[in-house]
Amino acid sequence: MLKVKQKDTSFEGKVVLVTGAAGGIGRAAALAFGRAGASVVVADTSVDGGHATAAMIVEAGGKALFVHTNVTRAAEVEALIDKTVAMYGRLDCAFNNAGVEEESVPLGDADEAAFDRIVNVNIKGAWLCMKYEIRQMLKQGGGAIVNTASVAGLIGAPTQPIYAATKHAVVGLTKTAAAEYARDGIRINSVCPGVINTPMMARALKREPQREDRLRKEHPIGRFGEPAEIANAALWLCSEQSSFVTGHQLAVDGGLTAM
Ligand SMILES: NC(=O)c1ccc[n+]([C@@H]2O[C@H](COP(=O)([O-])OP(=O)(O)OC[C@H]3O[C@@H](n4cnc5c(N)ncnc54)[C@H](O)[C@@H]3O)[C@@H](O)[C@H]2O)c1
Repeated sequence: MLKVKQKDTSFEGKVVLVTGAAGGIGRAAALAFGRAGASVVVADTSVDGGHATAAMIVEAGGKALFVHTNVTRAAEVEALIDKTVAMYGRLDCAFNNAGVEEESVPLGDADEAAFDRIVNVNIKGAWLCMKYEIRQMLKQGGGAIVNTASVAGLIGAPTQPIYAATKHAVVGLTKTAAAEYARDGIRINSVCPGVINTPMMARALKREPQREDRLRKEHPIGRFGEPAEIANAALWLCSEQSSFVTGHQLAVDGGLTAM
């Protein structure tokens, strides 16, 4: 019998915000939400990359809006939520994914400017996004939020001390907010990727190509992950399929944290 592939409509009528969506994991997630029928708000500091992601969604037959946003600035995050609601009427799901990496140095050699930059984006950015998303979701009576933490939010990450601290903080924000807002119908979870083939990882391996072999071996599955594999996890955590899951840290890491 001929099998006709059904169109994925699991997010039809839903409004989804993705930060850090100009490339890498965020772009893969924005495209996946768009393919599943969501109206997608693409947020990033990169204007060209953000417009390109939104254009890809529209070209594939979906709905998307790019909003230039620096997630470290409260006024810009508030405006992002306001524009989302003005355009699409509500906010059902948010994937707070914008983040920055750390150059490899042991803790004693890390400098103050790097600390401030990484903490600002990875912790303050995630907190500000959650704050304004939750305000909107409370008005509507519910929603789902997924934050991008990392395996470095679950275990130590030698030579990445500040990054690891920020990702542990994302886990702390996720667990606490999940407990605070569970009865308001807002589920909040984190996804914790292992090493994923993105521009961030390409930059890190360009600086230190000698790390690649060791990093690959840390993944029992024998390879790095692809952005679409994290996008799949984010979609599941935002969907009704995970309706009893909140305050969870989902490792998507090829077995790295199983060792
Ligand atoms: N790639 C990996 O191996 C890996 C592993 C674990 C966790 N992560 C996390 O996944 C997330 C996405 O990483 P990626 O690998 O796709 O990185 P990436 O650098 O390829 O993409 C990150 C995006 O975030 C945007 N961004 C940075 N600062 C911003 C700010 N202040 N406001 C708005 N946007 C901002 C960038 O412009 C970029 O488009 C990050 O939180 C990262 O820490 C990545």
